[in-house]
Amino acid sequence: MLNTRRRVSIDESCCEIFGKVLLSGEHSVVYGEPALVAGVNRSMTVTIGPSGKYSLQSDVEDRMGLVYYALELAGVNPDRCGVTVESDVSPGLGSSAAVCAGVIRAAREFSERPVGKDELFRLAWECEKKAHGNSSGVDPAAVVYGGLIWYIRNKERESLSLTHRYCFLLVDSGLPEESTKEMVGLVRTGYTLHNKRYKRILNRMGEVTKRFKQRLLDGKSVRGVVNENGLLLEELGVVGDRARRLSERFREIGCGVKITGAGGMKSGSGRLLVFHSELQRIKEDIDGWGMDVFEIIIGGSG
Ligand code: MEV
Repeated sequence: MLNTRRRVSIDESCCEIFGKVLLSGEHSVVYGEPALVAGVNRSMTVTIGPSGKYSLQSDVEDRMGLVYYALELAGVNPDRCGVTVESDVSPGLGSSAAVCAGVIRAAREFSERPVGKDELFRLAWECEKKAHGNSSGVDPAAVVYGGLIWYIRNKERESLSLTHRYCFLLVDSGLPEESTKEMVGLVRTGYTLHNKRYKRILNRMGEVTKRFKQRLLDGKSVRGVVNENGLLLEELGVVGDRARRLSERFREIGCGVKITGAGGMKSGSGRLLVFHSELQRIKEDIDGWGMDVFEIIIGGSG
């Protein structure tokens, strides 16, 4: 979500962008199934100023290529400006989409050609395709429009408003060694080699996502759908041993749990999304597990 747009001095532009969390539908969204995605309270700040005063620097690893490409798409010459990216958005929470959208937005402000949300989404998606080839566009949609979104590639984007308030934990299972591009490629290979099986898993993920949406709208528990989605992601082969073991522990204490984002097989699989209707009690239970955890709240608007 883009919330701040300001000119910090006469010759600088600055924009703050929030990350996202996929509640349901990662990977299957690439194949035309629906996804549910929400903004999170972790942000990235992009500042652009004239070269000389600013250099190109980013604290998001491996993203300088994206910064250059985003500047190009915004029609701003990288030799004539400097960009600083300060990020609290970790991988899996939409960091590459946030870089794309943030740099394009700030660059267009800097060159006095502000960009509207629909054009920004189109450009940020174009830019993200550079990052991982077959982007579904769900991450750019989430960081540009914010809130809770129901998304189907090239077909639907609907903002949802929930009367019921849902709290989730985002628990770190370790940084994935693989990039999103590699994980999307891994699923593509499986889809090509074992087409029937993969199609069946991806279709079931789509069905779970539809039920997830209905339960959110009805204010019902989402523990079961989170678990169904989590187990399907394991079947799809995007969840490594560490995250599987951790998920098992969460299921044993009655939680719904799934990875969120592209996942990872070699070491960590990124953040786990954990749901329990008595989350405060669960937070106390897992206090001794020594994990990096933060809480997100979705809905509760009415
Ligand atoms: C990554 O956050 C989500 C994926 O489904 C890729 C995409 O939709 O572009 C794995």
